[in-house]
Amino acid sequence: MTPCKVQFVARPGGRLRGSLRVPGDKSISHRSVMLGSLADGTTRISGFLEGEDSLATLRAFRAMGVEIDGPVEGRVSVHGVGMHGLKTPEGALDLGNSGTSMRLMSGLMAGQGLDVTLVGDASLSGRPMKRVTVPLAQMGADIETSPGGTAPLRIKPVEGLSGVDYEMPVASAQVKSCLLLAGMYADGETCVAEPAPTRDHTERMLQGFGYAVRREDNRACLSGGGRLTACDIDVPADISSAAFFLVGASIAEDSDLLLQHVGMNPTRDGVIKILRLMGADIEVKNRREVGGEPVADLRVRSAPLRGIRIPEDLVPLAIDEFPVLFVAAACAEGETVLTGAEELRVKESDRIQVMADGLQALGVDARPTRDGILVRGGNIAGGRVDSHGDHRIAMAFTIAALRAGGAITIDDCANVNTSFPRFVQLASGVGCRVESRDA
Ligand code: S3P
Repeated sequence: MTPCKVQFVARPGGRLRGSLRVPGDKSISHRSVMLGSLADGTTRISGFLEGEDSLATLRAFRAMGVEIDGPVEGRVSVHGVGMHGLKTPEGALDLGNSGTSMRLMSGLMAGQGLDVTLVGDASLSGRPMKRVTVPLAQMGADIETSPGGTAPLRIKPVEGLSGVDYEMPVASAQVKSCLLLAGMYADGETCVAEPAPTRDHTERMLQGFGYAVRREDNRACLSGGGRLTACDIDVPADISSAAFFLVGASIAEDSDLLLQHVGMNPTRDGVIKILRLMGADIEVKNRREVGGEPVADLRVRSAPLRGIRIPEDLVPLAIDEFPVLFVAAACAEGETVLTGAEELRVKESDRIQVMADGLQALGVDARPTRDGILVRGGNIAGGRVDSHGDHRIAMAFTIAALRAGGAITIDDCANVNTSFPRFVQLASGVGCRVESRDA
């Protein structure tokens, strides 16, 4: 982590025009390094997200002996070591702020026969890990957590794993992916059932690497003992990063913005559906498929938004986009109500509380509830908000300034680099009036 705190100052107003391609998808970038490392042959990745989270995954696999070239302008070559080729790293693997690295790697490492400890920063060390260690223990893994069920995670060697048929209590792609990755090392079949659809990048990418995954209704299943064959991966732009500009160009007057090559996986496009229900003008152009993932260009123009009751079935499909959706709600006419989103309380920060605090500091009527929030649209004043080191909160309040009455100062923004390197430059390039400074 950077020793001096980074602060954003976003001056009010501005319009978003032109076109941009936001950085590569974080979920797909993590998975490309993980599967590439275990594959036979060299996996060539383009569009890799050079953010701190995916770089943490990349460094972890390097520390386990995988030769990885790059990233150079988003290009990475991973020289796979095969399913059993990883080596014990010298020290603990530091996964920084990245929940995806920790949860997916706990499964992937459980069957390796290595003694490995996974650590993270203060935020990651406070996040729940029992959701992965409990089902992994059912498979025969031996993983020690802190007494509170959090990192550090010490993964100890075991004789072998056995497949499970696991019904997830929460709709989590990280838990599903963790168990499928462990399942590759288990005897027999591993099946994971989800209470609602969650992002399916792991299943798609496993198939791309030649590892069969069976889908039936709400279950994904695979059999242990297979192999992965290297392939080429073109990582689309991250819809979660594009979301800031989808909202920004909707709320800023006189805006017309083209977002290029955006990942449009149907398990990720809830933000578009929610914004359209609110009245947003988003045109999907040039739909295509790139390496097993749907991609499109998105043209978004200013539109008056209205408050809605967000359908609960869209919540897992937009789970990372709520901070900026709350900003859209603050600019909408009427009330927006979110329910069924208690998962937001255990993200990089408690996103319900932290967003409610920040919006209230800017004079917005925002009331947190146990599992969501109620936001009444109105004026956004200038002021100072604390992102609590949460990248998506910092970027959401930068976007809020487009419609604010005064400047918004946002504290603790260094972690924007976890998912969106060069955010300030890219946002400024299309019309945001934001600067970053050391505080
Ligand atoms: C992710 C899954 C989601 C999401 C996270 C990335 C993934 O987490 O919030 O940013 O890459 O699998 P949950 O599985 O905890 O919902």
